[in-house]
Amino acid sequence: MSTNSNKLAGKVAVVTGASKGIGAAIAKNLAAEGAAVVVNYASSKTGADKVVAEITSAGGKAVAFQGDVAKRADIERLFAETKKTFGRLDILVNNAGIYEFSPLESITEEQFHKHFDLNVLGLILASQAAAKLFDSAGGSIINTSSIASTLAIPNSAVYSGSKGAVDAITRSLAAAAWWRQRGRTQPASRRARCASKSKRRRRSAALASLGTSRARWFSWPPAIRPGSRAKPSLSPEATAD
Ligand SMILES: NC(=O)c1ccc[n+]([C@@H]2O[C@H](COP(=O)([O-])OP(=O)(O)OC[C@H]3O[C@@H](n4cnc5c(N)ncnc54)[C@H](OP(=O)(O)O)[C@@H]3O)[C@@H](O)[C@H]2O)c1
Repeated sequence: MSTNSNKLAGKVAVVTGASKGIGAAIAKNLAAEGAAVVVNYASSKTGADKVVAEITSAGGKAVAFQGDVAKRADIERLFAETKKTFGRLDILVNNAGIYEFSPLESITEEQFHKHFDLNVLGLILASQAAAKLFDSAGGSIINTSSIASTLAIPNSAVYSGSKGAVDAITRSLAAAAWWRQRGRTQPASRRARCASKSKRRRRSAALASLGTSRARWFSWPPAIRPGSRAKPSLSPEATAD
């Protein structure tokens, strides 16, 4: 494997569940682009070591770190080791996931928690830990979902449910990051709704204190309506706040 464009030179990536399958391919591709990669695994040390060996023999940087991504303590250790080894973090790929299929009557609580603890909770906890390591320029979190989240696949209620949650979480976190980048915590429409709620509250309080009706309140020009913050205006278009 030779380094491609090197566009990730100087960056550090953690790929969860990278001892085989999709995660291993992602780890090798990130390394080929110049990133130093943490190859996470749960139990397949041999597989993870093989991925690391492939990366380093091609001139890339990688280490294998064990950690069960369904457990907070393991996640904290994984990211602490990443910081200690590479000094920074720029990319998290939440790839570790399990998939088992069973009809409704065979679904067990154990199966449910196994899927949601890793595919959903693990993804959230790993994202929290990663976000703490990102510098002020930010970082990238990439979540591995599945077509199972939107396709109607029989016997996949638990797995599809967990990946549907991954889709929703990804949209929510992306929206929060988008607003945070713009120095706000919530969309304008939501702020507008809050603002109009407080206008309604002011108006109700004013009406109650005056013992007047809503219709009468609206019959007055906006600028003299009790509780209104409309500025006095000579314009006939002056609108209520
Ligand atoms: N394969 C597909 O067709 C497909 C399609 C759509 C989406 N996906 C999604 O893609 C992701 C990877 O799928 P895959 O098929 O490549 O899986 P895979 O071949 O079964 O590999 C799973 C990887 O996750 C690791 N892992 C399992 N449990 C873990 C845990 N508790 N903590 C940390 N790592 C753990 C495994 O490590 P160990 O070997 O050490 O246990 C392994 O490296 C999953 O999120 C899956 O839902 C897969």
